[in-house]
Amino acid sequence: MQRLLTNAGPIAHLTGEGPITGEIDDISKHVLSAGSGILVENGIIQKIAKSDELVSEYTNAEIIDLAGKAVIPGLVDSHAHLLWAGDRSREVSWKQQGLTYREIASKGGGINATVKPTRDSNDEELMQFGIERMLEALRNGTTHMEAKSGYGLDTKTELRLLSIGKQLSEIQHLPTLDLTWLGAHAAPPDSNISDYCEEILSEQLPAIIEQGIARSADVFCEPGWFSVEQSEDILRASRSGGLDLRIHIDEFVDGGGGDLAAELSVVTADHAHYTNDNSRELMSKAGVNTGFLPGTPYAMGAEYPPFQDCLDNNWAWSFASDFNPNCRTLSLPFLGSILVQRNDISPITSLAACTRNSAETTPHPSGLKHGQISEGAIANLNIVNSPFWEAWCLQPGHSPFESTMLAGEMIYH
Ligand code: NIG
Ligand code: FE
Repeated sequence: MQRLLTNAGPIAHLTGEGPITGEIDDISKHVLSAGSGILVENGIIQKIAKSDELVSEYTNAEIIDLAGKAVIPGLVDSHAHLLWAGDRSREVSWKQQGLTYREIASKGGGINATVKPTRDSNDEELMQFGIERMLEALRNGTTHMEAKSGYGLDTKTELRLLSIGKQLSEIQHLPTLDLTWLGAHAAPPDSNISDYCEEILSEQLPAIIEQGIARSADVFCEPGWFSVEQSEDILRASRSGGLDLRIHIDEFVDGGGGDLAAELSVVTADHAHYTNDNSRELMSKAGVNTGFLPGTPYAMGAEYPPFQDCLDNNWAWSFASDFNPNCRTLSLPFLGSILVQRNDISPITSLAACTRNSAETTPHPSGLKHGQISEGAIANLNIVNSPFWEAWCLQPGHSPFESTMLAGEMIYH
């Protein structure tokens, strides 16, 4: 089945190999001017050329007239805690009283306040949450996303969360998923970090590896949660079991996780808010992506991370939602607005950070390129409700997309 998108407005295609580093100065390298078309066959982008040439060449293709609307790649949410139950809305008043994340956790809130309702939920309830959240992400242009476990904190529930993630990833017309095991997220209610680490190494991680149910492992490496040494043990054991490595570091303070991320050459070190420049340089040399999560400081009333420093130093970086009970947005365009309208990062550089760059850390299950509109890539793209591609990040609180093409299928919002 051939589909032809005709009369496209500008196409912000972001074609190329590897992440884009540094400020994008020459927009014309990354955006095609209006008048092109895109031929899609079997869910793959076959050809990008002048619209009228494609119309005369592919006479049997189904035509979808874009009427001058701009096109951008499908967005890639490379950091999301997709599956959990419960509601932590009451924590907002604690935050406004000035309690820190750690103090909220000690008071009975935080990660552990989500563990009990998650353990108590049945599979159907968790599936339903997953579907609703994936639909919301798709409405906001996400075509592929990470899904971390991490609110079970025992072997049985961590496996259950990943198995639900696997079932969700097989549902048609939803974003595809990349599954990450985050058993090392916090100590469970009845334990402490050091005992729980032993349990992870002796029981939980071997079970995750045996079931082959996650592609990557992640650890919340932060003073007060998993130390650098404990994180290293868990990540090294995960790598021996064939898992790719990701890590949460320096969300609240510079805890030394950046050097570990560099030493282990993890795929991506996320939050990385307070990481020192020396560690950032080591991370960059080791090929580690910096995964900023601007929704978390937004939700916590904190300052934003140093996007501009990464640009000035050519350090590879991406941004993602960090969707979790403490940060409940699944909208990358809303977060794009934070970068553009609150941090002075350009729309094209911001777009690269949640498409081509995030795709580098979060591969598509087809093995095809994604996060860019190029010949041979999976046909994941968004039709913006505007003739201007910049509109993707200028409508906070609204989806800026008229429709999304997901593996060649049109989904109208
Ligand atoms: O990445 N900080 C660690 N994990 C999540 C938040 C978890 C939670 O508060 O439930 C994060 O922000
Ligand atoms: Fe996170």
